[in-house]
Amino acid sequence: MCGIIGIIGQDNVAPQMVDALKRLEYRGYDSAGVATIDHGRMDRRRAEGKLVNLERKLAAEPLAGSIGIGHTRWATHGAPTENNAHPHFTGGVAVVHNGIIENFGPLRAGLQKRGATFNTQTDTEVVAHLIASLLEEGLAPEAAMQAALKQLSGAYALAVMIEGRSDMLMAARHGPPLAIGHGDGAMYLGSDAVALAPFTDRITYLEDGDWAIVTGSGVVIHDRDGAIVQRDEMRSSTTATVVDRGNHRHFMEKEIYEQPEVIGRTLSHFVDFAEARIRPLDAAIDFAEVNRLALSACGTAFYAGSIGKYWFERYARLPVEIDIASEFRYREMPLSKKDAAIFISQSGETADTLASLRYCKENGLPIGAVVNVSESTIARESDVIYPTLAGLEVGVASTKAFTCQLSVLAALAVGAGRARGTIDADEEARLCQALAEVPRHVTQALHDLQPQIERLSHELSRYKHVLYLGRGTSFPLAMEGALKLKEISYIHAEGYAAGELKHGPIALIDETMPVIVIAPYDSVFEKTVSNMQEVAARGGRIILITDAEGAVAAGMETLATIVVPKVPEIAAPIVYTAPIQLLAYHTAVFMGTDVDQPRNLAKSVTVE
Ligand code: AGP
Repeated sequence: MCGIIGIIGQDNVAPQMVDALKRLEYRGYDSAGVATIDHGRMDRRRAEGKLVNLERKLAAEPLAGSIGIGHTRWATHGAPTENNAHPHFTGGVAVVHNGIIENFGPLRAGLQKRGATFNTQTDTEVVAHLIASLLEEGLAPEAAMQAALKQLSGAYALAVMIEGRSDMLMAARHGPPLAIGHGDGAMYLGSDAVALAPFTDRITYLEDGDWAIVTGSGVVIHDRDGAIVQRDEMRSSTTATVVDRGNHRHFMEKEIYEQPEVIGRTLSHFVDFAEARIRPLDAAIDFAEVNRLALSACGTAFYAGSIGKYWFERYARLPVEIDIASEFRYREMPLSKKDAAIFISQSGETADTLASLRYCKENGLPIGAVVNVSESTIARESDVIYPTLAGLEVGVASTKAFTCQLSVLAALAVGAGRARGTIDADEEARLCQALAEVPRHVTQALHDLQPQIERLSHELSRYKHVLYLGRGTSFPLAMEGALKLKEISYIHAEGYAAGELKHGPIALIDETMPVIVIAPYDSVFEKTVSNMQEVAARGGRIILITDAEGAVAAGMETLATIVVPKVPEIAAPIVYTAPIQLLAYHTAVFMGTDVDQPRNLAKSVTVE
């Protein structure tokens, strides 16, 4: 998960590339670098750590030139050091790469046998050596590029620059996305339209296997066999608006508080609030005819799908198989023509989710995508897009995208129920009204609970391990709460089904391990109270997240009780997300971790 930029035909490209890399930092941020050709000579600057370190280096030692490539890295092979930072150079060839060259070992050994000297621990360096060796054999750059690509296996989005050839950039895509931007008198390469937004909204996405020669006036695209192909040029809707934090300390905080607005925007795309009914759904997936729904996603999106499973099965009586995408793509689930598949992904570029989509597509299933980036690969390869209208999510820890995913899945489940006749118009109206009130309830929860949760987070930050418990739709929410806490505060946390406590995890319980219990006052509340008693009997310290009725009914001492507005069952997972996000956020802030760009993470996992 790295970010790539390339520019040709614009004066002084280095600062422009750094600006583009800032818009790509969400893809990885452990080191960065740029290279240019100026008066026929190639040069580069690279820096370990955040992009600001590269900016400092360029301020001290500027790079001139009207052609260049740049990269912000999430390390796959080789430590995140300056020496391993891209661009990689050898023999007059510079390369930046997003992905993994799976056969880099044998290729490296073969090149070393022929005298190549490697200077890094990366897989990417082998691409530079491969092209350089083919150029030395007398191949033209285009032929050398095509010949090199035929030897690579794995996933790659590449931008290549040849010293002495300041008239061209070369690009290739196999897996991770690569976009070409059409400017006026200049051309651009980028990992996505976000990077290119300041330069142009005219975008061409390379397809898998494509490679391209980009000059200052245009692009020639070849398919994997070398034939020249045409790819659609589209107008990107990604605005050039520079994303800023506003008056928030972090993007994550800003995005938490954007939720009422973007949830409302997303819901209104699917729900006709005036008529209290679900708007007609795209016929690409006819829920009335579907026997089984396969859901697949990763991380937070998987927890959204896991909650969606409860809703599809409860309201539409539609059996759902939900899989973590990295498992689904290899377990070869038997599929039938009466199945449909929906993939959930904020970025729309997650490699495992995309591979799972392609498995279902190969098996003839209709494909739906719940995505936040409508131009993403997953969106473009689906039969129907169910958009989460969350807007650009910069914080690596997903917040508003998650609650928008839940909003979409809730609306789809109700719509599916209507299509299958399992709920009538009155029930539909009741459920739509419940969803209509979600933005207001989220606003209230965020406003009312923030002071208490900020104080509580100081206490929570003292612990090394935390357990989250929930039943029903609160169980996947418990797992999401644990993920939020661990990925930004680095405190170890686990989410468990409350009913599973006695089957092992209770051995962990003592005063050093707080237990966060997510429990609206619903049909399983009393069962969860029993679990809380079991925890308390062993010295466990409980943080209960419930509503006013639950707070009274629990009738027990807790470390804290967080009282959420009383909401209907279908709304609970969305509204109860607010306190679990705030708890993770304030704990991380108090601990001083990098909330928006936690260590080792990237926003879009485009490698498996
Ligand atoms: C979210 O907080 C995580 N950073 C991560 O689990 C993320 O949800 C996962 O990588 C899936 O990403 P996607 O939604 O873009 O596919």
